[in-house]
Amino acid sequence: MTQQRYTVTVHLSDRSYDILVGRGLLASLGRELAARLSSASTGPRQALIVSSPEIANLYGPKVLQSLESAGFLVRSAFIPAGEQSKSAESAAKLYQALYDLAADRQTIVVALGGGVIGDLAGFVAATYTRGLDFVQVPTTLLAQVDSSVGGKTGVNFGSAKNLIGAFHQPRLVVIDPETLSTLSARERRSGLAEVIKYGIIADKVFFDLLRSEVAGLLDLTSEHLAFVLAHSCTLKARVVEQDERDEGLRAILNFGHTVGHALEAITLYQTYTHGEAIALGMVSAALIGEEAGITRPEDTLAAIGLLRAAGFNIRLDSSHSVDELVRLIAWDKKSVGGSARFVLMEEIGHATPGHRVPEAAIRRALERQAALVL
Ligand SMILES: NC(=O)c1ccc[n+]([C@@H]2O[C@H](COP(=O)([O-])OP(=O)(O)OC[C@H]3O[C@@H](n4cnc5c(N)ncnc54)[C@H](O)[C@@H]3O)[C@@H](O)[C@H]2O)c1
Ligand SMILES: [Zn+2]
Repeated sequence: MTQQRYTVTVHLSDRSYDILVGRGLLASLGRELAARLSSASTGPRQALIVSSPEIANLYGPKVLQSLESAGFLVRSAFIPAGEQSKSAESAAKLYQALYDLAADRQTIVVALGGGVIGDLAGFVAATYTRGLDFVQVPTTLLAQVDSSVGGKTGVNFGSAKNLIGAFHQPRLVVIDPETLSTLSARERRSGLAEVIKYGIIADKVFFDLLRSEVAGLLDLTSEHLAFVLAHSCTLKARVVEQDERDEGLRAILNFGHTVGHALEAITLYQTYTHGEAIALGMVSAALIGEEAGITRPEDTLAAIGLLRAAGFNIRLDSSHSVDELVRLIAWDKKSVGGSARFVLMEEIGHATPGHRVPEAAIRRALERQAALVL
């Protein structure tokens, strides 16, 4: 196994930060963080590790030791695993923890876990005393390639996902691929859907690398694993740098997510992981692109080929009503201004946002996807 390390810098003027990727990096977290903080403060800085009990059991001691040996005064707060923890109640619990340790503007929040912990801890850091520094230590594949990068933080409210949130960039992201060894195979595959998405929307050469490495990425034996994580972050970072606050280009990161979100909603978030829904949604987007005259059938087949090699189901289950899906898509799109607009693939490695697609074309694409012969 190679010991390569990568540094990806997200360039956002005074909010710029590094993403470090490499095996064994958890042990260097404290040193890397200390090197990036101003030494203007008096006395040791406090750090609050936010994690779930399971992740803290696995990786807490290493992170704690690393921070302590770099001179941080470390405390921990635990939030139960699961999407239901991404709530205002959990945020209040963390505000209390910060209050109890008399946190000041020098206090650092360290998010150790998957996207739920990262979004929640990031939101708390964004809002407590109008902004504390925070560090992302993502431990799921999805969090390592997606949610820890870009500064979107937030919690769910009622039945609405991410309804309450803030843009707040981390000071540092530390990605240790070794943490993926304890993640379930299903969660690993799920994160890979976002990686494949980056290839489809932004980088044909990367897409081809994924084709040859997919098995080794799933079982973590690929010598390119750290590169794949780092390059995914680079591709996302290049988009975020151009559109930090999601007013234009950042929409291309939603490739496959329109139908994906509809599938998650129609199954009440019980049937598919996010990545499984997005894998299906990317095939829908490719077929919708064909119907709109944007996507070539051979590119759809290439995308399907990689998604199938990664073990994803790509045929729409016949139990899902196309009518209901079309209704959910229209509803999803209304909230962002009128008619259905899609991110479509012009070719593998290049997608563009803002395509208006007539409902009949969407319907035809979904019907074709339900009838795919594999
Ligand atoms: N901020 C963003 O830009 C952004 C982007 C995409 C997704 N998200 C959010 O991310 C969340 C999903 O994140 P997720 O997929 O990481 O889910 P998650 O945080 O719920 O983690 C999935 C499960 O894996 C467990 N886990 C985490 N790391 C582990 C490890 N190393 N070993 C064993 N188990 C581990 C968790 O405890 C949890 O049970 C959603 O809330 C979504 O809205 C945010
Ligand atoms: Zn996603």
